[in-house]
Amino acid sequence: MERTWWKEAVIYEIYVRSFQDSDGDGHGDLNGITMRLPYLKSLGVDAIWITPIFASPLDDMGYDISDYTGILDTFGTMEDVDRLMAEANRLGIRVILDMVLNHTSDEHPWFMESRSSRENPKRDWYVWHPGKNGKPPNNWVSAFHGPAWTWDEHSGEYYLHQFSPKQPDLNWRHPEVRGAMFDMIRFWLNKGVAGLRLDMVNALVEDEQFRDNIWKDTREAVDYSRLASNISLDTENFVDRTRNQPETYAIVEALKREVLDPVGEIFTVGESWPCSPEVAGELAGPGRLDVCFHFDFLDLGRRDLSEFRRIMNKWETSLESRGPDAWNAWYLSNHDMPRSASVFGSAKHPKESAVMLNCWLLTRRGTVFLYQGEEIGMTDIRYPGIEDYRDIMTINHYRKLLGDGMDPRTALDTAAAASRDNARSPMQWDDGPGAGFTTGSPWLGINANHKWINVSGQLQEDDSILARTRELIMLRKSFPTLVYGAFRQVETDSDRLDCVFREDGDHQFLVVLNFSEEPARCRCLEECTGEAVFYSDQSSDSQVLGPFGARIYQLR
Ligand code: NOJ
Ligand code: MG
Repeated sequence: MERTWWKEAVIYEIYVRSFQDSDGDGHGDLNGITMRLPYLKSLGVDAIWITPIFASPLDDMGYDISDYTGILDTFGTMEDVDRLMAEANRLGIRVILDMVLNHTSDEHPWFMESRSSRENPKRDWYVWHPGKNGKPPNNWVSAFHGPAWTWDEHSGEYYLHQFSPKQPDLNWRHPEVRGAMFDMIRFWLNKGVAGLRLDMVNALVEDEQFRDNIWKDTREAVDYSRLASNISLDTENFVDRTRNQPETYAIVEALKREVLDPVGEIFTVGESWPCSPEVAGELAGPGRLDVCFHFDFLDLGRRDLSEFRRIMNKWETSLESRGPDAWNAWYLSNHDMPRSASVFGSAKHPKESAVMLNCWLLTRRGTVFLYQGEEIGMTDIRYPGIEDYRDIMTINHYRKLLGDGMDPRTALDTAAAASRDNARSPMQWDDGPGAGFTTGSPWLGINANHKWINVSGQLQEDDSILARTRELIMLRKSFPTLVYGAFRQVETDSDRLDCVFREDGDHQFLVVLNFSEEPARCRCLEECTGEAVFYSDQSSDSQVLGPFGARIYQLR
């Protein structure tokens, strides 16, 4: 296995709008990030992935871009970007940008031209279709509810949008689109960007014949009105013709060959939704992307450890068939997912469970992504009313449920439970009124628990979640075995424990984690003579892990 910076890196995801406001307008911004770089450095972070910073009407919080080389006003200016890059570079922190290639905003000049008439030279830069018998051409759906097609009255055709109607899909089969997007990426690489996170990269092209999405077993068209969710993450049961088309892989290869390779080693992580190890094996690999994100554990129930373990192991073992250099990307939360502490943690043992989860993450084989706030154990937020939510997906979901006849209270509960705002509440820096995030009025409500869950308080304690997470990062950095070493799951007689060996010619480690509120006896500790290099629980019996205990033993 070839050693590379990005395999060893702990990459910290910054959701820009909620990270740090520097000018009191209630919105996180670029100068806020620059201000906090020393904090990230001391945490041991190697690189930051910053969510889109480009000009946008914010229908989908910046994932709808109207100018790829312009900076969103509330975030700052190009000079602020340059300052952030220079400061990050000085501290040895790499910067990874979020590239949204599948769609633009409908307010992007390209789309405005494209929709102006059927004869416009940019008409085919997007995906247009006359429809079938006065209806959309097929059953494709938007991830934000409703059909993926919107009728354009003016030019008399439907356009495709796999997300909101304000996010029209680009037509990646068009060479000019490819050329324009590649040039845009070159512009950012020239600024010294070290890597790219490619938003929804598996959605770039759709079936050329516009065939319906079908069930794999019956081959019948999927009736999405009968499904609980529009977005099926299930590659086993559905043929989704808007995703994972072979031409996508050719585009990724061209991107690598024509744009990235000439600049140097640019790290790429593709977001793929849905994703299976087979899809990851196509998207990532020699001449293609470096790693992929998958969403396999998005729908997991609270603390379903056996299922969690099964899923994660599937990805681990898939490396064998995916080739000698295949590599995984690990994360437990991001700006689209609930917070790990709220899914797998415990309100009774908030500290222990958050430390245990970070221990899980930082002992995996693969590139580690740590979402902002996970280092202090931030939890999901629940807002009182639908008007407090900003996520378009939540608002549409709520409206749909009301439309289906659900009562407002249940509709709110249901939409809130799945809301992406859960993990987007502002970063909790201190216990003051704006949580140290802002001196103004925050764009999205701050969690009341910032009073006791915050960075500044945890910086003062030796055994805070923050301190322990930092310790884990340092441990990972001191022992490449924890990054590259073979990964061997140990069978346990408890469904509450997760035990893993990480080993290579130099060292051997045993990682033991208790995913439950009950103490758990661990058989593999019976003969363990190793030294505990990380120990989080108070248990007096060395073979019994306390609630949410996490330990790492060095065996050699
Ligand atoms: C994935 C992003 O993470 C999400 O926030 C966004 O809504 C969609 N892609 C569409 O760009
Ligand atoms: Mg601001």
